[in-house]
Amino acid sequence: MTGAAGYIGSVLIPMLLEKGFLITALDNFMYKQNSLNHVAYHPHFQVINGDIRDIEKMKSLIKRADIILPFAALVGAPLCKKDPFNATSINLDATINFIHMISPDQWIIMPTTNSAYGSGDKNHFCTEESSLHPISQYAEEKVKVENVLMQLPNAISFRLATVFGMSPRMRIDLLVNDFVYRAVHDRAILLFESHFKRNYIHIRDVCRAFLHAINHFDRMKHQVYNVGLSNANLSKKELCMEIKKQLPSFTFMEAPIGKDPDQRNYIVSNEKIENTGFKPIYQLKDGIQELIKGFSMIKNSIYANV
Ligand SMILES: NC(=O)c1ccc[n+]([C@@H]2O[C@H](COP(=O)([O-])OP(=O)(O)OC[C@H]3O[C@@H](n4cnc5c(N)ncnc54)[C@H](O)[C@@H]3O)[C@@H](O)[C@H]2O)c1
Repeated sequence: MTGAAGYIGSVLIPMLLEKGFLITALDNFMYKQNSLNHVAYHPHFQVINGDIRDIEKMKSLIKRADIILPFAALVGAPLCKKDPFNATSINLDATINFIHMISPDQWIIMPTTNSAYGSGDKNHFCTEESSLHPISQYAEEKVKVENVLMQLPNAISFRLATVFGMSPRMRIDLLVNDFVYRAVHDRAILLFESHFKRNYIHIRDVCRAFLHAINHFDRMKHQVYNVGLSNANLSKKELCMEIKKQLPSFTFMEAPIGKDPDQRNYIVSNEKIENTGFKPIYQLKDGIQELIKGFSMIKNSIYANV
């Protein structure tokens, strides 16, 4: 698995170890994260501090794997905008090189993104057949990678919804995590284009979807699936209303003018993966409750005394 020390990887690795898999985890630990410390004791866990752009290293590692989970990336539109050259070299060039190293009898299950639906049709559910309108370098490069990936017979692409929930490598730049963080610490949010809708999913359900794909690989392979929580296609305003149910002192206001830099607006159907027997078990309210607990333990305050 690459990007194994990331937000999703550090929750998925313990789940895979528990199921008996032998793991080789590769990450460049670019966020100085210590999110895999708690699995270092495990005899089935091996870790490599390295970069997916190191072609020779990747070749020798891939040879040994039965299942490949490529998670390494510069994740999110704002980070790719800030560092476009590294974004292309990691998210596009190195990832495509990597896909080309995989033999037809190895399995690959890859997270892509439903943000490729971009400013989709807000009145109709986007399915896997809907046209893609990526509106960021991040989403555009994920679409290009998915096109290459789908040329392999033993590949699955999971177009993930925006993930929420706590992880040992926490990300508060994800929409639900960000809003709950601000609701806990600032108690107020100003919303731009509050009607814009997105789909969400709990981090543990994302990990369960990867386990589901491993367990039903023959039935699911060579396909793209949306992976989201079907009853969580919500506007930013509706999300705030959900948060307020659990934090009554939280207030949010809608700005009459101004644009959100993130112009994504779509609703997503997750019926295809649900028809394979996968069902999320964590609701948005469970995630909000978990995040409220989590943020009582962490606060970004390096330049303040409190
Ligand atoms: N979290 C979400 O909402 C979401 C949604 C859709 C898709 N995804 C995809 O899921 C995957 C994991 O995302 P995440 O949320 O865990 O993000 P993350 O940023 O926490 O994880 C990415 C990991 O990759 C590592 N990494 C970055 N560049 C590397 C390189 N050159 N070589 C080796 N390691 C490198 C980082 O250190 C980090 O641990 C990504 O491919 C992302 O595009 C995530």
